[in-house]
Amino acid sequence: MARIASDSINAVRDAVDMAEVVGQYTDLRRAGGQMMGLCPFHDESSPSFSVDPTDKLYHCFGCGVGGDVFEFVMEKQGLGFSEAVEALADRYGVEVQREQEDPQAEARRQARRRLQQLLERSASYYASYLWESREAGKARQYLAERGLTESALRDFGVGFAPSAWDKILVAGQRAGFRVEEMRAVGLIQQNQRGGEYDRFRSRIMFPIRDARGRALGFGGRAMRDDQGAKYVNTAETDFFHKSQILYGLDRARAAMARANRAVVVEGYTDVIALHQAGVEGTVAVMGTAITPDQVKVLSGVVGEVVLALDADEAGQAAMVRVQRVAGERRMRLRVASMPGGVDPAEMMLEENGPERFRALVDSSGELADFQVGLVLQRTDVASPEAREDALAEVAPILAAMGEGVSQSELVRKVADRLDLEPAMVMGRVVAATPATGGPEAGRPAGNGRSDARQKGQAPPPKRELTSRERRERALLAMCIALPDPGAEFLERLGEGHLSGSGRAAVAFLREHPTDPAKHLPRENGALAALITELAMIAREEPASEEAMELNFLLLDQRRLEDEIAAAGERGDYERRASLSRERAALVERIAHAQRVGS
Ligand code: CTP
Ligand code: MN
Repeated sequence: MARIASDSINAVRDAVDMAEVVGQYTDLRRAGGQMMGLCPFHDESSPSFSVDPTDKLYHCFGCGVGGDVFEFVMEKQGLGFSEAVEALADRYGVEVQREQEDPQAEARRQARRRLQQLLERSASYYASYLWESREAGKARQYLAERGLTESALRDFGVGFAPSAWDKILVAGQRAGFRVEEMRAVGLIQQNQRGGEYDRFRSRIMFPIRDARGRALGFGGRAMRDDQGAKYVNTAETDFFHKSQILYGLDRARAAMARANRAVVVEGYTDVIALHQAGVEGTVAVMGTAITPDQVKVLSGVVGEVVLALDADEAGQAAMVRVQRVAGERRMRLRVASMPGGVDPAEMMLEENGPERFRALVDSSGELADFQVGLVLQRTDVASPEAREDALAEVAPILAAMGEGVSQSELVRKVADRLDLEPAMVMGRVVAATPATGGPEAGRPAGNGRSDARQKGQAPPPKRELTSRERRERALLAMCIALPDPGAEFLERLGEGHLSGSGRAAVAFLREHPTDPAKHLPRENGALAALITELAMIAREEPASEEAMELNFLLLDQRRLEDEIAAAGERGDYERRASLSRERAALVERIAHAQRVGS
């Protein structure tokens, strides 16, 4: 798809409320021109996360992450750059233009936009029909009896499909949509004689949305037993791939990211009932087993997923693949042992149901632990053959966890129960570990961020800066604050003055002397974070030409000292002597500059 025009990127940046975007993940307080809060990218107890609401930048003095508002959304929501721009554009009502797109792609996008509008219109149609039609009275009553409140139902856009054969067909045509379009999004279907009719009739309608809240399809629940299938869902379309969708993700994502944990349940009503009860980080897999694709989606948002599904499901062999995908992405999969025959929606109706559910989630155990437990439980440890079989069965489960403390603990437990040496069990685990790909294998393209940063786990602690780096950063920040003298200092700074990161920053600032933070080098995360940090310091700290000169001279002194040492090492004493004289002169100038500066 064609690139987003840079004017549009700037328009989105202008429209965004940075404090609001970040405020979804952490509470911010004003501190001078900036805002401070606890870092949403690592665990900390005192705030070192700073936000510049004017330039829409963030930087953590604790863990070193930083960037602009787009970077923030990319990190937090696991989106690529243009997705992040589009998500913010949607949210703040900015129309995004693309650079001269090829006509075919443009046509496809237009076509898709129409289908999207058709789905949205239909969702609103069903929703109004639920609340306004006489016919939906029974549905309203039924939903109320299930304990779902009107406000939660409205929140999720729940609706009702009329009983007539062609209400949606007619309404769609009247709104200017073609029959093929309605078929393409699965709203109508053909009978044997080739006539078209509404796919959903007399059903409670749950709109199924993507992570950004765009309607993709519907699940329709029957009201009576004689209506055929309990649920009719949108068939697979270009829009709708059930195995990649998590119901409720759009409403759950912020809460999930805050808690760094997602709860996964079976059905639509479970999600709505749990949200209503305050368990907001909840999504549904819509009746099927959780798929590797769904795990990938979640791994972009949270570090831990609790499966509150039917207990049988967690024991399925297919879960080993799911576990492997999670293990590769350093995401924990846990299992809450739900009481048989009661789903979460029902539990919410019981006295203390919400508390009980929370307790079950809190006391969930690791999926691998659960699966290994099932195997060990049915193993006759008196029989060597049975122990051998058990070992063969648990090895891939353990391997799928990926290396780590949890894995080695479970290995020890297995060894203990099967009365084997842990090293022997570990050997089998290693043999069962697929050779391809490291932890980064299969990450979404265009988002080469480290796992730790995406999950809000503590990234490696930020290294202490050397005194040269501190000076160089102070000077570079002033070059941003005062671009006029700044350009001159950027020219004077040579390789010998700078650290590695400083050289990269100087090269970048020479190319983008004004508003460098609006041109962040997204392909180079470390440099982007450094430029952000410099731009934020530039806003906050006082800058003057005198201070710049002094910093420059001090860096020059460092350069001279390095050269003097190098000359001495080479045995070039003549050079060393002349450099030393240079240094004496420089020290004079520094003393002078300090007097001027103070
Ligand atoms: N499901 C489906 N097709 C079916 C049955 C179930 O798609 N024929 C999916 C739906 O997403 C449903 C979920 O599986 O929400 C869980 O199924 P179930 O527990 O039977 O339905 P609930 O949503 O819990 O509905 P209810 O509580 O009203 O029985
Ligand atoms: Mn149910």
